[in-house]
Amino acid sequence: MRGWMIPPPQPPTKSWQEFEEERAAKVRWLIERGFLKSERIKQALLKVPREDFIPRLYGDYAYLEVPLPLPGEHATISCPHSYPLFYEPLGLDEGHRFLEIGSGSGYGAAVAREVVGSGGLVVSVEIDPLTLEFARRNLEKAGYRDIVLVQGDGGLGHPESSPYDRMAAAAACVEIPPPLIEQLCIGGRLIVPVIEGDRQNLTLFEKGVEGIQRRVICEVLYVSLRGPYGV
Ligand SMILES: C[S@@+](CC[C@H](N)C(=O)[O-])C[C@H]1O[C@@H](n2cnc3c(N)ncnc32)[C@H](O)[C@@H]1O
Repeated sequence: MRGWMIPPPQPPTKSWQEFEEERAAKVRWLIERGFLKSERIKQALLKVPREDFIPRLYGDYAYLEVPLPLPGEHATISCPHSYPLFYEPLGLDEGHRFLEIGSGSGYGAAVAREVVGSGGLVVSVEIDPLTLEFARRNLEKAGYRDIVLVQGDGGLGHPESSPYDRMAAAAACVEIPPPLIEQLCIGGRLIVPVIEGDRQNLTLFEKGVEGIQRRVICEVLYVSLRGPYGV
């Protein structure tokens, strides 16, 4: 069976210091396993307290390699390794204008905000209003007030803030939504799990003057994009 074993909900027991130690250990693990290479992404992962983006009864599991449930329909925060898995091939860097499809907990947007810095921009689109409200509260509490949060179908992008240098979709689609390609600048990159038969391939797209190049990174397992571009 393909899937994840979600641990049972339990009242939180861990201290701030334990979380800090787990976060540092997770970053070392990500480097050892080859997921994490860039210094900016490393610093962002060390800085953002993942435990503050997780529902209280799952908080103790913040640094386990499992997706955890969030308020909303089929919403989850992705496993810790997913963030460098997406952001490293994207080459997410200082000054980028970044679009995230699927805000979930808000954690991915916070990490991206740290990476792109004050000269960049993070826009995050979430289709589920309950999930978006959860992300909004988490981001506000963590002090991220300049991330643009949008409720809607991320397959349509967010033309108001386009063009984007980088895009990441944390939900799987059958075909790349054309609005996303339109809103990507030349030289821009998009990473997304693409459903091919009974598999999902995490695929990197790069937009050049002569068209789109694509490269499969690895097999993954994500919730499907809701709306016309999912299943
Ligand atoms: C794996 S979760 C995202 C995890 C998130 N990046 C985080 O850091 O917590 C996928 C999210 O995509 C959202 N989603 C699904 N279809 C969508 C769509 N068409 N537009 C925007 N969000 C969508 C789901 O509601 C869910 O919250």
